[in-house]
Amino acid sequence: MIDIHTHILPGLDDGAQTWEDTLNMARAAVAEGITTVIATPHHANGVYLNKAEAVRAQAELFRERLAAEGIPLKVECGQEIRVHDDLLDAWQRNELLTLAGSSYMLIEMPSGRIPSGMRDLIHELKILGLKPIIAHPERNAEAIRHPERLSELLDAGAYAQVTTHSLLGLFGKKIEDAAWSFCRNGLVHLVSSDAHHADLRGFRLREAYDRISSKLGEKFKENFRQNAEDLLYNHTIRLMDHSRDRISLWKKIERFIRKS
Ligand SMILES: [Fe+2]
Repeated sequence: MIDIHTHILPGLDDGAQTWEDTLNMARAAVAEGITTVIATPHHANGVYLNKAEAVRAQAELFRERLAAEGIPLKVECGQEIRVHDDLLDAWQRNELLTLAGSSYMLIEMPSGRIPSGMRDLIHELKILGLKPIIAHPERNAEAIRHPERLSELLDAGAYAQVTTHSLLGLFGKKIEDAAWSFCRNGLVHLVSSDAHHADLRGFRLREAYDRISSKLGEKFKENFRQNAEDLLYNHTIRLMDHSRDRISLWKKIERFIRKS
């Protein structure tokens, strides 16, 4: 399995704090069958700044540690980039990283709302040849209330990643329901852990995939799993065929969430 969103590098953000934390996370990842992680420390979220060079340097040290410890885990670089006014200029200054050197870039909205300039930003990123992936929209209050607005962002060219812990109910019922509803209705392309700690906020990717398989069917699981692999090789990622009519479904989604 490939995990495209993790906070596994030590001392950069609110994820792993020490090399011991990092190696514990690496062992936990391998134990559940994860072969590659993309390290995505927070960047420009008002608390943490982790420019491209700093992430690359720490990832290289991590690879050396993994080799020394004999842990069979591949590490790629990325960032979880908060949507901010300077984002496009920061890209031109080479401060930003895509995921594993692909065209896909992981971006994070504030938790309370969808920024007014999101559609324009997605458009500008597309012009630059970049493919923005919205991190955990199921944790965004406006996307939960108005899934059609998330749908519009996907129609503008964005992708979306749901978090394992949301699907497993660890962020509460409302977020759990939104996560499953988004999956069912074609508003999610990828599943990843957003892991911060081996035990307290671990990976649980296998568990989430198993749950997807039992609740939605093996085809959903395979679609998500394949998308993570395709992302790594910069191939096109896709929604399930049946879920292309997102726009027409938004009212149904909204009713479903309101009921729950
Ligand atoms: Fe994250």
